[in-house]
Parts: sequence; C-alpha cells; structure tokens
Amino acid sequence: MKKQRVIGLFDSGVGGLTVMKEILEQLLDVRIVYFGDTARVPYGNRSREELIRFGEEIVTFLIGQGAEVIVVACNTSSATALPVLRERFDIPMIGMVEPGARLAVEKTIAGRIGLIATETTVRSKAYSSGVSRALAKGSVPEDSVLRAAWQQGEQAIALVKAQSCPLFVPLIEAGLANSSEAQGIARTYLAPLQAAGVDALILGCTHFPFLEPVIHEILGEDVLLIDPALAVVEELELLLKHMDEQEKERATGEGNKAGTAKYIGLAPTPSALVLGKSHWRTRYFVSGDPGLFRQVGNTLLQEPIDLVEQVTLGD
Ligand code: DGL
Repeated sequence: MKKQRVIGLFDSGVGGLTVMKEILEQLLDVRIVYFGDTARVPYGNRSREELIRFGEEIVTFLIGQGAEVIVVACNTSSATALPVLRERFDIPMIGMVEPGARLAVEKTIAGRIGLIATETTVRSKAYSSGVSRALAKGSVPEDSVLRAAWQQGEQAIALVKAQSCPLFVPLIEAGLANSSEAQGIARTYLAPLQAAGVDALILGCTHFPFLEPVIHEILGEDVLLIDPALAVVEELELLLKHMDEQEKERATGEGNKAGTAKYIGLAPTPSALVLGKSHWRTRYFVSGDPGLFRQVGNTLLQEPIDLVEQVTLGD
C-alpha cells in the first residue's frame, strides 16, 4: 500500500483552504494538517521579521504534528519569509509565488499580467522576480508576446501590473465574500487593472479565490484568472514522487528524515508519533477562535469542517 504523506499547510487564516481543497481533490494519497494563524490575521501589512518569526513557530508546530512537507499556503509569507524558513528547516517547502508566476507566464496570451495581492506581497516584488525567472527558464513559447517584450529588455516589473487589495482579507475572514461590500470594493481595486488591459490576473493571495465569482463578473470572460494553487499541486506531486523514489532507493527502513527540524529554538512535539495510527484526512488548528474558523470555513468550502483545535504559538 502506498504511503500516505502528511502535508503541513499554513496561512494567516481561511485563505489556505483554497490551496488545501485543490491538493485534496487531486492528490489522493495525502493527509493535511492545516494551521490558520487567525489570532494574527491579516498578514498583509506585517513586516518581514514578524512573518519570519510566525513562520518559524508554525513550521515547528507542523513538524511536531508529523508534517513531512510544508506548503506555505500564504503568498505574503511565501514572498517574504520562505527563503529564510528554507534555510532554517530541513524539510521540503513549497510556496505560492514561484508556481503562480510560472503559471501566469505560461497562460498569458497578450503578455499583460496583472497581480492582486496584499500590500506586503506587492511591495516585495516577488511576483515580478518570479516572472523574470520563469521567462529566463524558457518555460514560455518562443512566439509569446511576453517573451518578446522581456527579450527587448522590458523589466519584469513593468510586465506585471500589481494592485494591493488590503480590504479583501478582512472581508473574507468575516464571511463577507459574497456581499455587496465585497463587490463595490472589488470594482475599485480592479479598475486600474482593467484600464491596463491585463489578460491574465494572478490571484496572489490565497484568500482571493473565494472572490472568484465577483472578480470574474467584473472583469468578464476575456481575463483569465490564475490561481497559483493549481501549479502548487503540480509541484507537490513531483516532490512527493521524488521523495517516494528516494525512499525506495534507500530502502533501509530508517524512515524519512525530512521531518527533523534544523531550527533548534523550538523543539517538535512528540504528537507526530501517534498520528500514523489514525485514519484522518485533514486536521485543523488555529491560533484564534476555532468556532469562527469552522463557521467561515464551512461556508467557504461548502463542506463540513468538524473539529478545529486551538493552539497558542509565540507570546
Ligand atoms: N492569504 C494570505 C496570502 O496569501 C495572507 C492574507 C493576509 O493575512 O493578509 O497572502
């Protein structure tokens, strides 16, 4: 029987559920431990230092819960803290930005990519760098408009028209994704992107796919909405295959060492040891109110979330 891998996945709140859903639908052999940092949401205007500290605490917690791979299901953390987390922990990590930028580069036809994201993600310019890297890797057809512009020396920054949308996250966390308030605010945020004629819009915050119907209605059929989660699933699948192959090669029975924390400030808890025996597919932890998370999560996912456990991290 194929080994069921445990994925540790985190976000500031309910946004990571959009990524979790894609993973669970497409990869049948995984289990997910979800952490929503709802006591500290939103992350969107936090400093890099804070996001690194939060990330360290959460990754340590998830490793303690048996995670063998971490999915940073938060663009803001991916854009700022992920490189540091990768250095500090000896566990494979997948973020949102590289896969999302690659997908946008592959999908745009007119070569005009738009980005909606949090303030911190926009300021980091991580998506522009990701688009540059995807172009440099050559994962775009030779005749693409974007490639031509890039080869002519246009900065990737100019190729990505970015708009920060600070009010979206609080609205979604409050369960107001389908409200008239959300529609009005979305019209204002999207107007400059419409004016710029973007043809592919990166949903650069994991909360935003919950607004897809609203965004779609405003922008119309001609603008392709790019959800980085789709590309994250592809990368995760490749990574898990690679891990399986490596394990087979070793075939020594010594087990996967990926879950060992390099970071010594916070030790993993022993609860990882008991998880292998149960039959769960998802487990949910939050730092804030578990009832609110369950209620909003149920509505957004349109599936029941039964148990949400509260944990306190940091101070
Ligand atoms: N969902 C997160 C992201 O992808 C964080 C949003 C926030 O907390 O501001 O950026």
